[in-house]
Amino acid sequence: MKIERITALYWSATGNTRQATVALGQALAEQLSVPFRTVNFTLPQVRRRIHAFLPDEFVVVGAPTYAGKLPNKILPDFTSKLVGKQTPCAAVVTYGNRSFDNSLAELWAVLQKNGMNPMGAAAVPCRHAFTDALAAGRPDEEDLATIRDFAKKIVAHTVLDMAVSVRIPGQADAPYYVPRGMDGQPAKFLKAKPKTDMSRCDACGICADICPMGAIDKNDVAAVPGICIKCQACVRSCPKQAKYFDDPAFLSHVDMLKQHFADSITGRKKISFYI
Ligand SMILES: Cc1cc2nc3c(=O)[nH]c(=O)nc-3n(C[C@H](O)[C@H](O)[C@H](O)COP(=O)(O)O)c2cc1C
Ligand code: SF4
Ligand code: SF4
Repeated sequence: MKIERITALYWSATGNTRQATVALGQALAEQLSVPFRTVNFTLPQVRRRIHAFLPDEFVVVGAPTYAGKLPNKILPDFTSKLVGKQTPCAAVVTYGNRSFDNSLAELWAVLQKNGMNPMGAAAVPCRHAFTDALAAGRPDEEDLATIRDFAKKIVAHTVLDMAVSVRIPGQADAPYYVPRGMDGQPAKFLKAKPKTDMSRCDACGICADICPMGAIDKNDVAAVPGICIKCQACVRSCPKQAKYFDDPAFLSHVDMLKQHFADSITGRKKISFYI
């Protein structure tokens, strides 16, 4: 199989998935000595367009794990806007040190349904968007080096046209993980939205520009009239640290995650690779 170009396409609200996906794509391009490009699929204006791929290119598709699956509000764009022609590809999910549950299986199935030909996959433990206490600083240099190494295996399979029969853990159609609070009961924070500390905010508008849901009012950034998926892009991108969540159920879930899935409890989780 002759590959003419590598694309790293990612949805990434707080940057982890971008890093992991780009590392794999770049390493593939270097090893195959072909051009490399990125498609940042995070913002609504890019997700509205169809992204079509040919059989002689290779695409690395990346998404984070939300509630054990792909982010549900973004899933329709993954299913309807990526179109392959038996295009070889790799699936990358990131997750915040709890579990990737069924997200990789779901991404794999979505790619197959879209006419792509997934050959390899990775699930990468990364800093949890909700808190730095889980997988802090990851993906780090060690992770990125391991990912680059994985590119060599993919290249061997691609160049040699090896038959692919990969078993991805999980079930594409499994239900979502139910977040729990410190009391062990379901933590209901579906309607939670970020607050803004107006004594810090200088109305720069960054949060409104980078919200993947276009949910923040550009003219009044304290207002969130749209749907919030709790991605934390606004919280982590605000240069004045003015955005925060104070919903009690949300905070209780974060405390539960810290109690059970902090690095000190889980140890350093390894990246899972499949080929
Ligand atoms: C709404 C939401 C739900 C999440 N659900 C899970 C989960 O079920 N399991 C897990 O380990 N991490 C979970 N995470 C953590 C993210 O998967 C992780 O931080 C990911 O690397 C974020 O990717 P990004 O930086 O590309 O946005 C969740 C994060 C968010 C914002
Ligand atoms: S990014 Fe922060 S400082 Fe800028 S408008 Fe948003 S809340 Fe205000
Ligand atoms: S408002 Fe919600 S969806 Fe938009 S960036 Fe902030 S956390 Fe993400």
